Amino acid sequence: MLYQRWWTSNIPPGPKPKFMIGNFHQMKPHWTHSFLEWSQTYGPIISVWMGSQLSVVVTSSDLARQVLRDKDHQLSNRQRSDKMTQDGTDLVWSDYTPHYVKLRKLCTLELFSLKSIENFRSLREMEARSMVESILKDVKKSDDQSPKPVVVRKYLAAVVLNTISRLMIGKHFGDEEGKEFKAIVEKEFLLSGEGSLFDNVWWLRWVSAWIISDKAYLSHMERRTKWFRGAIKPILEEEDVAFKEHQGFVRKLLELKEKKELTEETVHGVIWNMFTAGSDTTAVIIEWAMAEMIKCRDVQEKAQQELDSVVGTERLMTEADIPKLPYLQCLVKEALRLHPSTPLMLPHKASETVWLGGYKVPKGTTVYVHVEAINRDPANWRNADEFRPERFLLEDIDVKGRDFRVLPFGSGRRVCPAAQLSMNLMALVMGNLLQCFSWSSPIPGESIDMTENPGLLCSMRTPVQALASPRAVTRVVSLNLD
Ligand code: HEM
Repeated sequence: MLYQRWWTSNIPPGPKPKFMIGNFHQMKPHWTHSFLEWSQTYGPIISVWMGSQLSVVVTSSDLARQVLRDKDHQLSNRQRSDKMTQDGTDLVWSDYTPHYVKLRKLCTLELFSLKSIENFRSLREMEARSMVESILKDVKKSDDQSPKPVVVRKYLAAVVLNTISRLMIGKHFGDEEGKEFKAIVEKEFLLSGEGSLFDNVWWLRWVSAWIISDKAYLSHMERRTKWFRGAIKPILEEEDVAFKEHQGFVRKLLELKEKKELTEETVHGVIWNMFTAGSDTTAVIIEWAMAEMIKCRDVQEKAQQELDSVVGTERLMTEADIPKLPYLQCLVKEALRLHPSTPLMLPHKASETVWLGGYKVPKGTTVYVHVEAINRDPANWRNADEFRPERFLLEDIDVKGRDFRVLPFGSGRRVCPAAQLSMNLMALVMGNLLQCFSWSSPIPGESIDMTENPGLLCSMRTPVQALASPRAVTRVVSLNLD
């Protein structure tokens, strides 16, 4: 007890924990909401107990700077469930070790450098074009008298997943592969959630091990490995000519496997990371942005005017147009500010005891940066809860981790390595959606449900359904309607 008392002396203030369960009983399904409410009572740095695991949450730009820049050397490990993350042998869940540095460098050079982003530009543009084609096909199928709304999420999920799979394995998923991928991600989400209370009470961990039996876990990993091997089989057998042009990151990793001493587990883990960290994060923000633009028609119209005057109606917008489309760039930034897809980022862990804002953060503490609260902090932003892209026209603000008022991608050592790639993809997809269609609510005057799903990823609870009225430029999109 004395040790416990010493260990917890000077930690940040927070709601009073209960024996064994900590603050679990007070947590709302939306953790972000509970953290924000507590920070209004206890200040911008709070302690929350998940069972016997201490978490510290920071909700201000100043403290985020301390976590992600000044003290990031001691705060760059990951809090993880070892079972579900293969003991951190991948990139996302690895601690900040030489293994991590090696993987991160490899990914930055081969995948996320400006040169490789440029190399894969045509591939993203092809995917955006096929998204427009499939929306147009669906719209044309419906009757002119009673046009049917489309579910926006369907096209966004497809365009992002297809782009990432082309980058990773050099080809699209087949229908079955795509379905199996979604099913595995869902199962993994369920398995990670099961037993989480027990995982956090050190002397009850055996219960968690009992709930998620080794058998369930092993069969899940077997299924994932089978899917992965199936997806990369053509690469190993070199049976598809398309790979010659865009070989996919996995081939590069396999080539470097011996030289860089990578195990198959790591190669698999890194590719899996890219699929899971990249697909929904990008798609959900675009869905939020589309919902905002259906609500604010003037924002939508302004973006369309810009596209019409810069790109015209004789061709589809490409990534080369982005620098000439300042309003579109502001739209992307505002969507990232107001709706960061991971509002608590990914959990960091203290590798040593550090002091933040005058409080002690003991070694082993989980540290969350509440980026949603920071991005909407009225101290930094006027009308912080409103969708106003113009605010970025007035001031050129970086959203990739240099300005601590807006941190959708985090900052510092663990900042999202794909920030530039995702911003390009978001601008391209949103630009094509706006250039090709006018978006409106199927029932005029009906408000859009803007509530969020709980979880690490902040998606919309109700998928947006909208009428997509084709605009003049769609003449240039040829369709093969059968
Ligand atoms: C708009 C879309 C995206 C957002 C908002 C986003 C946001 C984030 C955030 C907040 C983190 C955690 C930073 C931290 O813990 O300090 C992260 C990490 C990561 N993201 Fe993204 N991300 C996006 C898209 C992508 C894409 C497209 C990919 C890959 C194709 C990707 C790959 C990763 C990886 C590998 C990490 C782990 C980095 C590390 O631990 O060192 N992300 N992302």
